[in-house]
Amino acid sequence: MTLVGKRVLLIVSGGIAAIKVPELIRLLRKQGAGVTCVLTDNGAQFVTPLSLQALSESKVYADLFSLTDESEMGHIQLSRSADLLVVAPATANILAKMAVGLADDLASTVLLATDKPVLVAPAMNVRMWLHPATQANMTTLTARGVQVIGPDEGAMACNEFGPGRMSEPPAIVAAIGSLLTSRARPLAGKHAIVTSGPTHEPIDPVRYIANRSSGRQGHAIAAALADLGARVTLVSGPVTVPDPPGVAVRRIESAAEMLDACQTALPADVAVFAAAVADWRVDNAATGKIKKQAGAAAPALNLVPNPDILATIAAAGPRRPRLVIGFAAETDDLLANAQSKLRRKNADWIVANDVSPATGIMGGLDNAVHIISHAGVEDWPMLAKDEVARRLAARIAEALA
Ligand SMILES: Cc1cc2nc3c(=O)[nH]c(=O)nc-3n(C[C@H](O)[C@H](O)[C@H](O)COP(=O)(O)O)c2cc1C
Repeated sequence: MTLVGKRVLLIVSGGIAAIKVPELIRLLRKQGAGVTCVLTDNGAQFVTPLSLQALSESKVYADLFSLTDESEMGHIQLSRSADLLVVAPATANILAKMAVGLADDLASTVLLATDKPVLVAPAMNVRMWLHPATQANMTTLTARGVQVIGPDEGAMACNEFGPGRMSEPPAIVAAIGSLLTSRARPLAGKHAIVTSGPTHEPIDPVRYIANRSSGRQGHAIAAALADLGARVTLVSGPVTVPDPPGVAVRRIESAAEMLDACQTALPADVAVFAAAVADWRVDNAATGKIKKQAGAAAPALNLVPNPDILATIAAAGPRRPRLVIGFAAETDDLLANAQSKLRRKNADWIVANDVSPATGIMGGLDNAVHIISHAGVEDWPMLAKDEVARRLAARIAEALA
């Protein structure tokens, strides 16, 4: 990727992740991009104008009422002279100001005055991110066409764990690269939820019931949707495949946690349920490790049904995504079972695949799927899972157009 000749206006607001901004500037400059920084007053508490200036080799703007800056450039011109505006880190505060159109400092004024695409990299405490106010602001901004990268999940500076960490600089640079290339982005402004991988249902603190899902298909779908411009929330069970770039990953273990993460991620335009969710969980999961006792009978596991994630989200009333896509992994009567699943669960499409061991699909690299909709059945040939994902993402873009 090259960003030679591209101009990025980098708006740095007041979050701890501002300490990653020098690395972001370094990577952008390495790709050939010109970088000009706007720093909020609070951003300057975390990173100095001098370091941003030295790395960007460009003046750093901070004051709205600077006579020098206004005569030299003007805040309107500053907002329009770039190819892309990037807010990194984007605090809860600046996202809220963007959502309501406040313009009370140089950064927010520039963001209101711009006619250029905007990418935000949210970074905040997990509770601030999950607060309904922030989530409502993100929905407003996404619907308006603002592009979003992250946040990632992980340990935070505030000693908490969860979604809220700013995406790493290489991922932000990749997102900038794909925004500044002229590829079609038919899903820009759309939010997609994708589930992927297996679930783990605890038997006791050290044992669980799992399945052979690798997460390859679901992760590839998340990547393909992001590639077409969608904001993607990937709710993933325990997998070893890497996180797709530019996708917000929510890691869960059990089916109940997966449902909860999907409901928290609503509203969405499309939901693709590719995860292999356990149908049952252990009702009597032990809180301590079950001990083997000489002569004692093996413990009985009492299984109870897990919540049906596809059916629950497809019945979410006004919060139901416009397009709800389920997966059917079957070893017998594939099409009949998938057609019945489509009707029973109120899905729009079912992607059916035969997971008999002889097919090598479960855990493998290729997949042969049938797309079942209310209009009929379409058989796709055996394809790489990445290619299945690309074709499915293109279909989704057509359906949401
Ligand atoms: C040590 C410290 C760390 C902070 N980190 C964050 C953060 O990561 N994300 C965030 O949204 N706010 C964070 N805040 C709060 C913001 O700095 C505060 O909301 C401020 O008004 C943001 O201003 P700005 O958006 O104009 O830069 C932090 C505050 C302090 C004191």
